[in-house]
Amino acid sequence: MTDREQILALRSELHQHNYNYYVKNAPTISDREFDEKMHLLMQLEERHPELYDANSPSQRVGSDLNHEFTQVRHRYPMLSLANTYNRDDVQAFYDRVSQGLGGEAFEVCCELKFDGLSISLIYEHGQLVRAVTRGDGEQGDDVTANVKTIRSIPLVLHGGDWPDSFEIRGEVLMPWQSFEDLNRQREQAEEPLFANPRNAASGTLKSKNSAVVAQRKLDAYFYYLLGTELPTDNHYDNLQRVASWGFKVSEAMRTVGTLEEVMNYIDYWDHERSHLPVATDGIVLKVNSVEQQQRLGYTAKTPRWAIAYKFQAERALTRLNEVTYQVGRTGAITPVANMKPVLLSGTIVKRASLHNEDYIRALDLHIGDMVYVEKAGEIIPQVVGKETDGSGISVSFPDTCPECGTPLVRYEGEAAHYCPNDSACPPQIKGRIEHFISRDAMNIDSLGPETVADYYERGLIHNVADLYELTVADITGGNTSRERSAQRVVDGISASKSVPFERVLYALGIRFVGKVTAKQIARHFGSLDKLLNSTSEELLAVDGVGEVIAQSVKSYFEQPINMEIVNRLRAYGLQFERPNDQMTKRPNDQIAGKSIVISGTFAHHSREEYKEIIESCGGKNVSSISSKTSFILAGDNMGPSKQEKAQQLGIPLVSEAEFLDIIGETDPLSAPSSMEGSARGDAQKGADNSAPQQLTLFD
Ligand code: IVH
Repeated sequence: MTDREQILALRSELHQHNYNYYVKNAPTISDREFDEKMHLLMQLEERHPELYDANSPSQRVGSDLNHEFTQVRHRYPMLSLANTYNRDDVQAFYDRVSQGLGGEAFEVCCELKFDGLSISLIYEHGQLVRAVTRGDGEQGDDVTANVKTIRSIPLVLHGGDWPDSFEIRGEVLMPWQSFEDLNRQREQAEEPLFANPRNAASGTLKSKNSAVVAQRKLDAYFYYLLGTELPTDNHYDNLQRVASWGFKVSEAMRTVGTLEEVMNYIDYWDHERSHLPVATDGIVLKVNSVEQQQRLGYTAKTPRWAIAYKFQAERALTRLNEVTYQVGRTGAITPVANMKPVLLSGTIVKRASLHNEDYIRALDLHIGDMVYVEKAGEIIPQVVGKETDGSGISVSFPDTCPECGTPLVRYEGEAAHYCPNDSACPPQIKGRIEHFISRDAMNIDSLGPETVADYYERGLIHNVADLYELTVADITGGNTSRERSAQRVVDGISASKSVPFERVLYALGIRFVGKVTAKQIARHFGSLDKLLNSTSEELLAVDGVGEVIAQSVKSYFEQPINMEIVNRLRAYGLQFERPNDQMTKRPNDQIAGKSIVISGTFAHHSREEYKEIIESCGGKNVSSISSKTSFILAGDNMGPSKQEKAQQLGIPLVSEAEFLDIIGETDPLSAPSSMEGSARGDAQKGADNSAPQQLTLFD
């Protein structure tokens, strides 16, 4: 086989495997085989630049080169749909259509209304040539490079019965699972959270760096085929044809012949949509016959042959009792609405985010107002509006820190207020210590927020370095009945001295340096000394480090007070460099080549550590369960949807103890957790500056 033939064969094979995996959910080769083939293709393509193909499967990894979007005019304007919120309006639509068609029979295609952002794709000769966002409906942004990274979108079509040139429209979505994973990562990296999957999908698709898009696991469903030569005379069959060309088309589509069936469809999906992997916000009804669609035509803005029925957003009305202000470990002030408890989507909500001063102003809040609370993306409660004015005082953002009285500052371009008194404001000090001891940082689980608060208030600790000077006598204060638990605390602190450098770096709590960034920096430099001697350019060369992070790292180490703490920690024996053999591979038959999902919480290692262990044993950590998953490393509190999915697909669960057995490990850091530490958890952490909607607010 010539190189050219091999390249062509690999491209077509990899297109098919992408389709099997991302559209059909039925892969036929292992991830490793896929990666090997991709690697080979990329090597061959590098050797043969003359055989470049803009739609090669290798193009799906995206590029780190930033690009600006060019504006492209839509061939057919991208109209929206008329919305209705009640069944009478659905009936009125049905009657209008019937009348418009002179009483003749018609079919309605019922579909889910996907809640993402719409995209228009142009294909020519079976190849994707352009992808454009809706924009203002007349013209949108050319996001082709980003769209190519979405694995479920075909770059080259299957079969041969597609029109030579056509446009197809659909919705780009971020599945719930990817959205939750992404927000978890962002929380750890102290980046602002996305309020819902739609915002996450939209922010991602408009990213200027397609390599970022490639990592974000977007998906896309298609629902409208346009062109002069459509394959059949009705919408439903056209979409079935579209599916055969390799597009993802919802299996929930149905054609019906009566209004009653339409209503049944709405009833069914209003309930069932909670089980879908992606967000939906309603039902779309379309007259099925293309010829009847043409006869019905359009109003100025919307087609007369289609309508959207929007599901009622889950919202509740309750009384605003008080607004409190939380001070995070970085000094960011988060306003929180404290309300009369109310039931919302199955949970009792009593606190909701008010984000920042501008948000409060826009709502014109008064104590006693009856406010609407919604779960943004059905997860985080927030106040979205009000029904009636209360008689209480108007809510106004404080000028001074509610904890230490220092005048607040608001940096240019930021919506949040900060307390600048980082060296003496108690919640900031306690917050930094809580962060330091947390599981993903130093993992000192014999301590918790209550013990930290207690020691701080008793004057035993003022910063993280003080922890390493604590003695049993200090802790007990002479009370011998507390000796055992005090000893456990001291032992736990002492054991943390073997925690690897990257976690120590994360534990320092440098602003914007989350777990992942800390790891990248630690791996890049290998030691604190090398990091301290690095230039800004060298820092910027680290994967994931941009100007803001580089600046934050530099300024952290420039402050004498921080260096004093770091030097003390060094003197106590904490790890400030990576041992040379840390990344050496330790092949393990039971892990090598396996795709492993990590789910739940663990006692002996952090999830990140388990990920590393899996990788160093030659396995792969994947985020969502599919038929390709080899097993699930299942900790405590694994979510019910994951359990159900694992059961459906027959994926084995491996407990933490079994896994430690597989890797032949008894963990040196494990210490029995004390009662003192038992209340510890995310719910106790303060809200943070850059993540104003932290899930932690809402216990
Ligand atoms: S059809 C001319 N079908 O809803 C009709 N749209 O307000 C074209 N959407 O911009 C749209 N699911 O982003 C259609 N099954 C579906 C849809 C859908 C979601 C979105 C789409 C559109 C908006 C209409």
